[in-house]
Amino acid sequence: MSKIILGIESSCDETGAAILSRDGDKITILSNILSSSAELQSSFGGIFPEQAAREQLKLIIPIISQAMKKANVTKDSIDAIAVTQGPGLIGSLLIGVETAKTLSLVWQKPLIPINHLIAHFYPCWLQTPQPIFPFLGLLVSGGHTDLVVFKGHTKYDYLGGTRDDAAGECFDKCARLLDLPYPGGPQISKLGRDGNPNTYKLPVPMLGSKDFDFSFSGLKTSVANLVKNTPNINKSDLCASIEQTITKSLVTKALSAAKSQNLTTVILAGGVAANTTLRQTLEDSLKKEVPNSKLFIPPIELCTDNAVSTAANAFFTKPTKNPLEVEANPNLSLSH
Ligand code: KG4
Ligand code: ZN
Repeated sequence: MSKIILGIESSCDETGAAILSRDGDKITILSNILSSSAELQSSFGGIFPEQAAREQLKLIIPIISQAMKKANVTKDSIDAIAVTQGPGLIGSLLIGVETAKTLSLVWQKPLIPINHLIAHFYPCWLQTPQPIFPFLGLLVSGGHTDLVVFKGHTKYDYLGGTRDDAAGECFDKCARLLDLPYPGGPQISKLGRDGNPNTYKLPVPMLGSKDFDFSFSGLKTSVANLVKNTPNINKSDLCASIEQTITKSLVTKALSAAKSQNLTTVILAGGVAANTTLRQTLEDSLKKEVPNSKLFIPPIELCTDNAVSTAANAFFTKPTKNPLEVEANPNLSLSH
């Protein structure tokens, strides 16, 4: 018997609904609807939370109904509702969580609250073969940069993370310094494609530290100083350099974590995992330095926020006992 889950995601500037089915081990996407107010946000140079939430309030019901129509399911065939509980913007999270609670009560369906940071890894369970525990998880998003050892679906140990800005945040802030629109990661990557990463030397943060922590705020400051002090800066070269520096920091720490924990399976996830330089460099370095390594990365289109990840994670997460008690939690993390 297959199981069908409706996933709802509204942690940041996107509104997503997806219907997934699971038959034995095989998980299939029946529909995946996503609307982002990124274009609107880019005119503000970043996310304007109030504006994002207003858009989501308008979109959430039409998007859920579109996802159900596309998947050709009615409420009767849905077995459970999954929703991003946090972390994220409180106004945005509330819209998804309160909508999911309402549907769960009215339709009498179990509600599965999902940690968005964990959900980022779960598009990998749509692949065959699926990842096998234990694995090292490197989560790189707009708000988080974490190294975590996953021992089971809901069992994990935190190894380290950023002490200040997240890698995605660093991409976004550097883009802003270069007058590039939000979100900055894809813009920097595009502009840097033909650039020379060695023209401008940027410090690779915390490369020599023995822990598994990161720091990206100093890099942003170095870029700000360079831009201020270099007339006619070559943006393409600088973008290549920013991308290479962030990649080096992430890959170096991930490799040393994998080695120190004797882990051969690694999953790279989160919005920044859409970066092709990072994907390729991690793959090449693991192949070279960790014997028998296996690297999983979600397909590029499922790295950034989406409801497929939320629903996929829900197949491995217990429903809540009391849906009415579920509350949006903007501070949910992997470190405690
Ligand atoms: O996971 P995500 O969609 O949202 C959060 O949960 O934060 O990540 C968004 C972040 C943004 O900082 C964006 O600039 C970055 O992911 N990003 C990228 C790329 N695509 C998205 N960074 C570098 N290269 C990309 N191709
Ligand atoms: Zn995310």
